[in-house]
Amino acid sequence: MSDDIIVLKDLSKIYGNGVQVRALDGINLNIETGEFVAIVGPSGSGKSTLLNMIGLLDTPSSGQIFLKGIDVSRASAGERAHLRNRELGFVFQYHHLIPEFSALENVMMPMLIAGKEKAEAQETARELLVSVGLEERLSNKPNQLSGGQNQRVAVARALANGPSIVIGDELTGNLDTKSSDLIYNLLRELNRKINQTFILVTHDMTLAEKTDRILRIVDGKLVCELRRKGDLFIASEACELGEDGGKIKRS
Ligand SMILES: Nc1ncnc2c1ncn2[C@@H]1O[C@H](COP(=O)(O)OP(=O)(O)OP(=O)(O)O)[C@@H](O)[C@H]1O
Ligand SMILES: [Mg+2]
Repeated sequence: MSDDIIVLKDLSKIYGNGVQVRALDGINLNIETGEFVAIVGPSGSGKSTLLNMIGLLDTPSSGQIFLKGIDVSRASAGERAHLRNRELGFVFQYHHLIPEFSALENVMMPMLIAGKEKAEAQETARELLVSVGLEERLSNKPNQLSGGQNQRVAVARALANGPSIVIGDELTGNLDTKSSDLIYNLLRELNRKINQTFILVTHDMTLAEKTDRILRIVDGKLVCELRRKGDLFIASEACELGEDGGKIKRS
């Protein structure tokens, strides 16, 4: 058995019953444990849909999703919720923090759901918020924080249960360079230390070029893949560089 943590087989997602949108169209993809992957592509190309599938937030129209070798494509809502809490950490395009809760409480939440003691959850949440540079904002609620600060709370929350896979949708989207670097360095350190797998959707090619593998999706299809070899990226055979593809250097 390979060390693939995620395997997608001929995955498709069609939305709508009147006018149908084929958001994902026959995606085949293997992601190994400990990979640091970026997904890029134009607006509306299916990136968030793909993350929703990998994150078990939605079910495919056809095809299969394997998580750690187990077919989860048709798992019940309960099984998917359990796996999400234990194996997955999410940072959404719109962060979905609980407005009534402080930063600390928001980060504690997934740990309490997983059955951790309150004192331990509180300590871990505090450490995580310190590591994203928010030690002075622990008791602030989302409406008392800036967009970028909320984004960092969302990152801390995603890491709370030490998930094997962290998926982020524009995770550094509204961060300045300094905060964005802080977050990237934190994720990279976790990736190297405890072999956590990261899958980040991003429009930021500077971030994408820091990862190890760049997947480009256009019209719901994987059209190009680049893998890091030292300081270079090697393009797969299938690479057709699209409108914004010129930004990805072919080596
Ligand atoms: N719930 C839905 N119902 C119907 N169509 C949808 C739904 N969600 C997404 N779509 C459509 O599916 C396609 C892919 O959307 P998706 O959100 O995955 O794009 P994206 O690559 O994440 O775009 P962006 O970069 O703008 O976030 C788009 O055409 C979108 O309009
Ligand atoms: Mg999106």
